[in-house]
Parts: sequence; C-alpha cells; structure tokens
Amino acid sequence: MTKAVSYAGPLRLGVNIDHVATIRNARGGGHPDPILAAQIAANAGADGITAHLREDRRHIADGDIDRLMSDEIHLPLNLEMAATEEMLEIALRHKPHAVCIVPENREEVTTEGGLDAAAHHNKLAYYADKIAAANIRLSLFIEPSSVQFAVAKSMGAQVVELHTGAYCEAVIEGDEKKVADHLKRLQDGAAEAHAMGLEVHAGHGLTYNCVKPIAAIPEVMELNIGHFLIGEAIFIGLDEAIRKMRILMDEARKSESGK
Ligand code: PXP
Repeated sequence: MTKAVSYAGPLRLGVNIDHVATIRNARGGGHPDPILAAQIAANAGADGITAHLREDRRHIADGDIDRLMSDEIHLPLNLEMAATEEMLEIALRHKPHAVCIVPENREEVTTEGGLDAAAHHNKLAYYADKIAAANIRLSLFIEPSSVQFAVAKSMGAQVVELHTGAYCEAVIEGDEKKVADHLKRLQDGAAEAHAMGLEVHAGHGLTYNCVKPIAAIPEVMELNIGHFLIGEAIFIGLDEAIRKMRILMDEARKSESGK
C-alpha cells in the first residue's frame, strides 16, 4: 500500500512512438508516420512524446527527431539515447525538453534493464555535464536502488526513470509474490528518490493490466509507455488506446492504491 501524500501532482503520460517507426521501417517508405502518431497522442491526452534514437536506427530515424522538434508537434520531446558522442551531438543540436540516458546493447530486442550509473559513473558524468550545460533536463533510466539514486543525484540528473520491466513480467507470469516484491521496490525507490529531490518517472512494459499500481505511487510524476499502446492501436485505434490508458492512470491516482 502506498501512503497518501499531498505532493502527488498530476501524473503525466509520455507516449513512446518508436514502434510506429518499427512498422514503417519493415517496408520502407513513410507509412505509418510516427509524427502523425505523436499528433494523435497529443489529441488523446498525452503530455509528452518519447522517442529512442538507437545507434542502429532500427526504428526512429534522424528525420523523425527533426520533425518532433519542429512545429508539426507541440508536445515536449523526451529523447532516449545511449551515452555516445554521436547521440550527444544530436541532443545538443536539437535541445529537446529532456534527454533520458538508457543502456543500449546491439543484440537486445528492447532496453532490457536499467542503466548501471554507478559502474559507468565517469563516462556518464561527462555526458551529464554537457547536457546540463545546454540546459536540457537529464533523466537516467535506472533500477530502483539507493546506489543508483545517489549517483544520479551526484551527476546533476533532475529525473530518474524507474525500470518497471521486471514488475510487468511478474504480472504476466501471475507470480503474486514476485509482483509484490517488485512493486515494493518501486514504491520504496520512488519515495527515496523523491526525498533526495529527484523527479520520479517510470516505464517499460506497462499495459492496462499492470499500470494502476505504478500510477498510484504518489511520487511518480510521469509514465512513459510505448509498445503496448502501439500494439493495442491495431485493434482499437491509437486515440482510443491512449484514452483508455489515461483513464486507468487517473483512476489509480485518485484511489492511491491502484485497485
Ligand atoms: N522508458 C524507457 C526509458 C524506455 O527505454 C522504454 C522503451 O523504449 C519505455 C519507457 C517504454 O517501454 P514500452 O515500450 O515497453 O512501453
């Protein structure tokens, strides 16, 4: 059970449009257009757009980032990227609302775990300094762990995004003990990070079935959700898929228990 706290602000929804680009790239050409998806997301109640420009450009392309930063779409862009010189140059050129540094392995299907900020402190600190100097909000995608929070704070990150993948997997497996353990780690982690002055976001693997307990964590200010929404859009349309998610998030936030 999460405690009721007065600082629980409105919960923002960032829609990740990567997998619209995945489908586009399967055939080449321009359809379906991820920027049209971003516009639909804006109308359906999204507060921001998230896009991961991968080193191998398997989904989002450089031209998509150009367009997401143009007048075609008025929502803030959360640019997910690996800590590389190439990505840093792109971020500094575009100056998105936020940069979220994520771990990236070439062979992985998706971002499989949080960034080990503690192990890569020196390298990450270099990128964090450049991003801060450009006045871009810095977020680190990490596991809920005291060590990771301390390192994020020491680097000047304003935001930590907690990886919800293991919790969502446990929900799919139907393992109640694992679900409870992962949820508690996320709840305790959110409270700890918030107490340290870090803004807390969460994401990865969230679906209609598992979003509510995460949305109910009062310190969590933003959820970033992609794959499930784009998949669900095939059946009910993107606008409807996002509106349904928004309703579940808002219901959970009101109840504060996620039930
Ligand atoms: N947040 C971060 C940092 C991510 O890397 C991803 C996946 O790109 C997401 C959120 C969204 O995860 P999903 O697509 O599973 O909803």
